[in-house]
Amino acid sequence: MHCNLSDSLPWSAFLQARELLDAGATALEFACEDTWTCRAASPVSGGAKALLAEVEPGTVSGAVEGATAVYRTGTDGLPDLRVPTTSRLDASFATAVRVYLPVLIGAALAKRAGQSFVAGHVTQTLDGRIACENGQSQWIGNAADRNHSHRMRALLEGVMVGANTALHDDPMLTVRHVDGADPRRIVVSGRGRVFTDERALTMMSGPGCEIFVGATHEEQPTDESVRVNRVENIDGQLPPASILAALRASGIHSIYLEGGAGILSSFLQAQAIDLLQIHIASMILGAGLPSLRLPAVDHVDDGMHMHMDHAILDGHVLLTCRQQS
Ligand SMILES: NC(=O)c1ccc[n+]([C@@H]2O[C@H](COP(=O)([O-])OP(=O)(O)OC[C@H]3O[C@@H](n4cnc5c(N)ncnc54)[C@H](OP(=O)(O)O)[C@@H]3O)[C@@H](O)[C@H]2O)c1
Repeated sequence: MHCNLSDSLPWSAFLQARELLDAGATALEFACEDTWTCRAASPVSGGAKALLAEVEPGTVSGAVEGATAVYRTGTDGLPDLRVPTTSRLDASFATAVRVYLPVLIGAALAKRAGQSFVAGHVTQTLDGRIACENGQSQWIGNAADRNHSHRMRALLEGVMVGANTALHDDPMLTVRHVDGADPRRIVVSGRGRVFTDERALTMMSGPGCEIFVGATHEEQPTDESVRVNRVENIDGQLPPASILAALRASGIHSIYLEGGAGILSSFLQAQAIDLLQIHIASMILGAGLPSLRLPAVDHVDDGMHMHMDHAILDGHVLLTCRQQS
């Protein structure tokens, strides 16, 4: 089966899907004439080469006449996607659907239910490292991974990093490699270390930035358009549930959590990640920062067991993982 996530995928169809979902569509239909497009559909429509996505949780009954594949939401409300790669559906588009439709629909369902949707992402080596011991990490992934990350930013409302990533990488967190709007930029820094750096961090300049610090921190950023959220610290951590509730109050329901390991682990441990994308690069570092830091378990049965789907990103592997319930 071909499962290449190609850079030439018909990206505008996914931006159309996001717009339709934001406008309240309950069913989407992807159809190909010269190129793939997405339009709102009635749940039982469907045409030649159409792929129908039901947005209401529950089971879609029956197959749609002429449809190549039918998307169903799982009973937990998150997408349970089955896209057979047949001669009638081009393989590269089918792969893009498998990667991005669960994100789009998971985000839409969460927002409609007044909840949050978090997609985590990590780029790691074959031996599970996200950076060298000195924190240098650019680039473990490849250009296709960076394009993919920008697509994810364009599909969700916020992009979040931990303080170490903000301080070490000084990322812009904008959408530059693909079409789409920039998400809001979010940094979590319980001890307020993002204020201790003498540099003005790029992500903390200009409107659209949200900083999360512990409740006792009184610092203000130099840029007054940056919003500071003060959250009660519990056992040295800001609870992910409190961060997500504050973001919802600012209208941000869907978040792309780009790392590093500290913040990803904190959200994973709190069961606050709906979908985790793990990009595996064709490289071994031998030492360096591990991709996750979670408490030890004594038996493999006590690990987090995941459902996995995979795509190929220019020779690297992109895993989409969801925790088994
Ligand atoms: N390969 C990749 O995909 C990838 C992606 C991103 C980053 N990186 C690399 O990873 C490294 C950084 O990762 P990291 O694990 O060291 O750090 P990190 O996750 O970026 O940041 C950890 C810091 O974020 C804050 N934080 C996170 N969760 C928190 C919570 N629940 N409550 C309060 N504060 C919280 C804390 O800041 P305070 O100390 O201020 O409390 C904590 O020290 C860098 O070298 C970067 O280049 C790699």
